[in-house]
Amino acid sequence: MKAEAGRGGVAFHRGDVNPQFPLLSPQVLSLSGLEPFAKGGKRHCYVHPADDDLCIKVVADSDDERNHEQHRLELEDYAALKTRGSDSLFDRIPEIKGVVETDLGTGIVMRLYRDADGRISRTLSDVIREGGLAPPLVEAVDELRRWLRRQRLLTGDTGPHNVLGVSLGPDEWKLVIVEGWINRRHRRLARLHRRLTDWLIGRQLRKLDRSIARLVESRRSRVP
Ligand SMILES: Nc1ncnc2c1ncn2[C@@H]1O[C@H](COP(=O)(O)OP(=O)(O)OP(=O)(O)O)[C@@H](O)[C@H]1O
Ligand SMILES: [Mg+2]
Repeated sequence: MKAEAGRGGVAFHRGDVNPQFPLLSPQVLSLSGLEPFAKGGKRHCYVHPADDDLCIKVVADSDDERNHEQHRLELEDYAALKTRGSDSLFDRIPEIKGVVETDLGTGIVMRLYRDADGRISRTLSDVIREGGLAPPLVEAVDELRRWLRRQRLLTGDTGPHNVLGVSLGPDEWKLVIVEGWINRRHRRLARLHRRLTDWLIGRQLRKLDRSIARLVESRRSRVP
């Protein structure tokens, strides 16, 4: 799958796109007049103008070719996860519906996570910054940890900024992963060595713990 980088975004060559990612609309969607609900380092996320349970991710206005490449690779990673044939894997990974052309470049259309009250779910970083790490959130982190081990999913970067805290109700959280589902560096290794994979997952989980601890600590220094 090749990508054509240009001003305002990336165009995937249709013939090169894995057919499991259909072009969802023959029209070019206009996003440039809308406000993204979230901005990552590489991409901006918009609520789909025709379906508010979906979001569209486009590469932020940037000449950095690596951002376009990462955007394209997200589809490849997702396709690789699909080949594992495990439905439970998508309990905590958003379903990708397909792609659309937009006036900001090719957009990836995926499920938009919302809290029980309809609000768009926040990142785990934001949830901790705002409310600290209460016991229900600790439990949700533990659940995510067990789930990653059970799935033997060695992710690329499961930092708290790529994890969303979906609020299911008072004191009930579910954590999902919106980005970096596959560790590209250790991908082949992980397929061959189960015990090494488990060890690498453990190492990543310790890294996640350290990031969470830093967030808690910096909140403590702000909110006595
Ligand atoms: N499926 C989703 N549902 C709800 N919010 C989402 C979803 N996907 C992404 N977001 C929000 O958009 C933000 C940016 O998305 P994403 O992490 O994919 O962008 P990025 O620019 O590639 O990230 P990074 O800054 O980690 O490189 C996320 O941190 C999250 O707040
Ligand atoms: Mg991100």
